[in-house]
Amino acid sequence: MESQFKKNILITGGAGFIGSHVVRLMVTRYPHYRIVNLDKLTYAGNLANLHDVQEKPNYRFVKADICDPDEVRRVFEEYRIDSVIHLAAESHVDRSITDPLSFARTNVMGTLNLLEAARRTWQPATPHLFYHVSTDEVYGALPFGDALFTEETRYDPHSPYSASKAASDHFVRAYHDTYGLPVVLSNCSNNYGPYQFPEKLIPLFINNIRHNKPLPVYGKGENVRDWLYVEDHARAIDLIFHRGRTGETYNIGGFNEWKNIDLIRVMIKTVDRLLGRKEGESEKLITFVTDRAGHDLRYAIDSTKLKNELGWEPSLQFEERIEKTVRWYLDHQEWLDNVTSGDYQRYYQKMYGN
Ligand code: NAD
Ligand code: DAU
Repeated sequence: MESQFKKNILITGGAGFIGSHVVRLMVTRYPHYRIVNLDKLTYAGNLANLHDVQEKPNYRFVKADICDPDEVRRVFEEYRIDSVIHLAAESHVDRSITDPLSFARTNVMGTLNLLEAARRTWQPATPHLFYHVSTDEVYGALPFGDALFTEETRYDPHSPYSASKAASDHFVRAYHDTYGLPVVLSNCSNNYGPYQFPEKLIPLFINNIRHNKPLPVYGKGENVRDWLYVEDHARAIDLIFHRGRTGETYNIGGFNEWKNIDLIRVMIKTVDRLLGRKEGESEKLITFVTDRAGHDLRYAIDSTKLKNELGWEPSLQFEERIEKTVRWYLDHQEWLDNVTSGDYQRYYQKMYGN
């Protein structure tokens, strides 16, 4: 039965935001691959994100911690894992400022455990791939202007989160150069779309606008992010996994830069319209608060290499995608209520004090 599968792919962090979109895409597009989703189900992981694929015959879920070497090794052996798409991480910059050690543990040591399991169980002659999913934040911050991050940009992380992701990227490349492990990496810009945990800007603000709660804009709201629809990212991961060159890094981005305050105004307009409120009624919720420590001014990705080598391009309908995203959160209040109970309330109180 098990030998019917052409590949046995371990996806880590598959119950999180981006991971759930990657799992859904791989499970449905490739019924001849077995997809093993390994996730610890931290506050950010939620099996409800995968309700539509959980019964598929080529899908398995394993609740485990990537920091547990014995368990990781057991999963590699039991499922005869031949490829890894590694997304599991602590991913929220603000949390990394209050708890840097857990970021080092998961993002650095967890990645090393996976690399070790791959190195120890994979035979050199057979085809394998360790795909490490990373972030544009490793490149640091750009000034306003034309410059974009390319694959050659020097690493310059500023937050404990980006420092931990940078360290994990270095370890992945070191395993390639030292042990010949077949690896590929991608560094992506800010994602948005359904199933994102509402501690990140877009779902947090949609939820707050709906409930007439203050919108805590850091600093003057002038920081710039390059927004990419999450399904575009999943599509890029699929392409790079199948056709990316071993040992290479690919930048993934939206060519879609927005100043935070401008994006927030688009969200306000969209939520107000969809809820039948007066245009701009919720502008009064904008509240400028103390800036994030070490807040990177601008991220912007040049994804020309991915376009030239693999033909990937971001979808360009930003306004439609944002509207679709707003609608999704408005239509899924139950999902939001489930993930914002308990610990989330304590986190929110500590972060924003209301
Ligand atoms: P997320 O926080 O929504 O999900 C992370 C998932 O990892 C959760 O399901 C969580 O339960 C799991 N996890 C955490 N610690 C674990 C552990 N020790 N063992 C096993 N599972 C664990 O994150 P996301 O936004 O979906 O990001 C996924 C990946 O993509 C991360 O590596 C992140 O650095 C990267 N990334 C994110 C973005 C973005 O905009 N969100 C952009 C570029 C890159
Ligand atoms: O660039 C890719 C990265 O994007 C990923 O690697 C991270 O995992 C992901 O969390 C994201 O990091 P950011 O820090 O850019 O995302 P966040 O949604 O936390 O914040 C987006 C911008 O909005 C940032 O400039 C900070 C600002 N912000 C955020 C929050 C949560 C606010 O002004 N107020 C807020 O309450």
